[in-house]
Amino acid sequence: MKLDFISIFPEFFEPLKLSLIGKARDKSIIEIGVHDLRDQAINVHRQVDDTPYGGGAGMVMMPEVWGKAIDKVITQESELIILTPAGQLFNQRMAEELSNSAHLIFACGRYEGIDDRVRQYYLNEGFKVREVSIGDYVLNGGEVAAIVIAEAVSRLIPGVLGNPESIVDESHSEDGYIEYPAFTKPAEWRGIKVPEVLLSGNHAEIAKWRKSAGESRANHNQ
Ligand code: ADE
Repeated sequence: MKLDFISIFPEFFEPLKLSLIGKARDKSIIEIGVHDLRDQAINVHRQVDDTPYGGGAGMVMMPEVWGKAIDKVITQESELIILTPAGQLFNQRMAEELSNSAHLIFACGRYEGIDDRVRQYYLNEGFKVREVSIGDYVLNGGEVAAIVIAEAVSRLIPGVLGNPESIVDESHSEDGYIEYPAFTKPAEWRGIKVPEVLLSGNHAEIAKWRKSAGESRANHNQ
């Protein structure tokens, strides 16, 4: 899978050299491109934003600059993801869908967002385009949101996780499913004991306990 990130802050994507994504890149399971939007600016001031038509606070990112940047990386198999708090809420189902894609382009907007004609243009040209939000709160830009999505998606790609079993029974692997709490040694820590049943070796009882502990966790979160 290829992931391209377009942003005025390419340094944001340095952490993608670490950990499992870093290893997946070394193994060529994932290829990552980071592109500085300002390289596509159309004037000497390297300007990427301008005042909004209709007035109001903030600045809007210019369509010419975004068009040039996206044209450089987009192909027929690309899916264009525009990060915005106004987008469709990201969840594990969307992560699964996106993990089947061969190429994701993350357009990381700042300020009041990207001129909407960018979205319209690529949609009209027949490309897959989605506006995506990672939650009902506002970030300063789409970079952190793009990294969140990239991490959730890439761990679903075969070969990225050491143990493929880990994605089977985890929280959100099915709608509403929340995983049971985990314990390791020692059996008692600061006076708190690991639930007795987990030390019993009785697999049926352990499974029963885990199911109910997961359900009560799910209820607490509501
Ligand atoms: N940009 C600003 N806030 C955002 C959010 N919640 N999700 C995605 N992109 C954003």
